[in-house]
Amino acid sequence: MAIRNVGGGDSLSIFERSWQTYHQLVAHDLMQHHALGQALEQRLLAWLTEREVAGLPRALAMTDLACGDLTTLAPLLQRLPLRELEAVDAASGVLPQAEARLGPVPYPCRWRAMDLLLWAESGPVNLSEQSDLITCLFGLHHLADADKWRFLELLPRQLAPGGRLLIGDLFRQPGETRQQYLERYWDRVNSWSVLLPPSRRLVIDHMASSDYPAEDEQFAAMAESLGWQVRWLWRGPDQAEGLVELWRPG
Ligand SMILES: C[S@@+](CC[C@H](N)C(=O)[O-])C[C@H]1O[C@@H](n2cnc3c(N)ncnc32)[C@H](O)[C@@H]1O
Repeated sequence: MAIRNVGGGDSLSIFERSWQTYHQLVAHDLMQHHALGQALEQRLLAWLTEREVAGLPRALAMTDLACGDLTTLAPLLQRLPLRELEAVDAASGVLPQAEARLGPVPYPCRWRAMDLLLWAESGPVNLSEQSDLITCLFGLHHLADADKWRFLELLPRQLAPGGRLLIGDLFRQPGETRQQYLERYWDRVNSWSVLLPPSRRLVIDHMASSDYPAEDEQFAAMAESLGWQVRWLWRGPDQAEGLVELWRPG
């Protein structure tokens, strides 16, 4: 499958071969999935109320990019008022796991094995295929910055009027180089004593080959220059994880 990650297909191997390691990170909340998920849910509930007040339909068409096995989002997706869900991931083997984790839901789901940038480039066939809500959790940092900007440039076509793009991801601090970021994060990984050394090694090697987080302020400034309104909803205590909301004015 065509893949636009800087690390190419290798960047998926940790997910294709070892979801167990990622599940341990989540179970022990080492990457603050819990707080990020809470901030996401809180904002979505408030936004649903805002939509109702504005007379917009409550039932949402949603797309989750880099869905993985829906580790983070499944509980929320079981409660959100969706009219349809499209879940996209470049690792095709993970999609049946995502479907199983979500379980039965009262709306149709489409499971797509596809690179997220290619998904953005493919554009909706017609307006009725636009999404009210697009989420991308821990997926975008695999792309080079230029491709992240391209993603931001293309996404308005995919978003219905009044829609929201919510990106939860890893970010560098202002002025921090990728190497400085990696070394700072690796200190953190090395302190994760709940993981066995081979699992810590796997995480470190994956980061070295595949993680290219944007600088946070540059990401927001670039999005603004492309016509997005930007609001940081949450920043993790380690100055790496963050959740940002983007929307088109008007
Ligand atoms: C860290 S997991 C996150 C999974 C899920 N979003 C979550 O937060 O629990 C990263 C996921 O991104 C997927 N991924 C990585 N690069 C991608 C790309 N270019 N396009 C689509 N999916 C990608 C991987 O296959 C993996 O499932």
